[in-house]
Amino acid sequence: MNWILYTHLIAAMAWIGGSIFMFALGILLRDKEKQQAVYPVVGPIFGYFELASLFVLLISGTWIAYNTGVLTPLLDGNHSKIIDILRTKLWIVLVIVIATIAHFYIAFKTNTTQRSKLENLVSRGSSLLIFFLNLVVVYYAILIRTIIT
Ligand code: HEM
Repeated sequence: MNWILYTHLIAAMAWIGGSIFMFALGILLRDKEKQQAVYPVVGPIFGYFELASLFVLLISGTWIAYNTGVLTPLLDGNHSKIIDILRTKLWIVLVIVIATIAHFYIAFKTNTTQRSKLENLVSRGSSLLIFFLNLVVVYYAILIRTIIT
């Protein structure tokens, strides 16, 4: 059981670490020429890395929930403090997944072409949303741990 939690934590570090790094890159790399040199190369590698981390997070998280017996009450609509917090965490995860799909769709579609204003807005908005929601998800994950122990 511990190795699943371990896998979940490593994937969370990779996923959140990646999003913090790209957030920093977005702020620090302002030069248009450098952006055009860096993003088309780093973008797809980062994209697959992040998609793999998110996939591992979803699988391992579901596995932990199943093994700890919280998956069934979660789906049955039961209410207890821990189930309610986990449910809130999962709603936020769902928003993250949707924002990720939107972000990646635009990223791959426009990797080597010019973006429209709307595409820019959705791309930047979704990455900002993912960045902040990740911090909230970790807050809820720690809250669950505090109740368990
Ligand atoms: C963006 C996606 C996710 C992130 C960043 C994330 C993050 C984390 C972190 C950091 C922990 C460790 C908390 C601790 O031990 O203090 C954790 C635990 C856990 N996560 Fe996730 N998680 C994600 C998705 C999911 C999903 C999709 C599920 C279930 C379907 C899930 C279920 C759980 C469960 C059951 C625990 C164990 C609670 C415990 O024993 O501490 N997570 N998660």
